[in-house]
Amino acid sequence: MKLFDSIYKRKSCRKYKMEALSKQKLEEINDIIKTFDFILPNHSIKHRFETEIKGKFLVEAPHYLIISGKGEPNELENIGFLYEQLILWFSENNIGSVWLGSAKGLESNSEDIIGIAFGYSPEEIYRNEKEFKRKKIEEITNDIDNPCIKAVHYAPSGMNLQPWYFEKQGNKILVYKQKLKLPISKLYKLTDLDMGIALLHYKLACTHFDKTFSFVRKTDDKSKKGYELFGEITES
Ligand SMILES: Cc1cc2nc3c(=O)[nH]c(=O)nc-3n(C[C@H](O)[C@H](O)[C@H](O)COP(=O)(O)O)c2cc1C
Repeated sequence: MKLFDSIYKRKSCRKYKMEALSKQKLEEINDIIKTFDFILPNHSIKHRFETEIKGKFLVEAPHYLIISGKGEPNELENIGFLYEQLILWFSENNIGSVWLGSAKGLESNSEDIIGIAFGYSPEEIYRNEKEFKRKKIEEITNDIDNPCIKAVHYAPSGMNLQPWYFEKQGNKILVYKQKLKLPISKLYKLTDLDMGIALLHYKLACTHFDKTFSFVRKTDDKSKKGYELFGEITES
């Protein structure tokens, strides 16, 4: 199985066996992360393994990865893009996982951004395509037969908001980010991270279908009601 195949079967796992993964497996995880791609230049992202964390909406798991940064440009979308590769790798390796949006290390660290719980699960960690709860594809694109957008359609997002719209315009795809409304916009600040996750799914599909993928970040507040421009994909 490849990361691309995991897109269509992965689901968030919220029930774990509390047995620890072997030291060897944890080292393998640390090594595999080093092989993953960034979407835009950024060198401030770090992670560490923890067994106890704090935050809201947590799940009990034997292991957590806490990801931190320095608030540099492109940090959130890079975290989404980079660590979604790990989420899919976990799935490929029969390890359950879930993003945890408010997780922080026990010793309060303002640089902590997000966590991922992971471990083996006593439950099924896969689902079939019909079981994904997602918006209608027409709500996230005008290019509904594009297989790369189908891969985005199944991407996870905080609170399952799926805050993206992919608009085909000629040979480009304009990528939009939804402007969240109150009260959610007060509570949820990780939309850029969600965008990174969606772009990773798009990119994996391009690779799978032998297309090249290039992404540039662009911003503009006016072009689409309820959304702001996030960037532009060129594929060939
Ligand atoms: C950035 C982000 C933050 C998330 N935070 C939490 C969380 O705090 N607690 C939780 O149980 N699930 C969390 N999730 C998981 C989402 O709720 C889940 O991905 C979404 O509902 C779609 O379900 P699926 O992953 O099973 O496809 C988060 C997901 C993302 C991408």
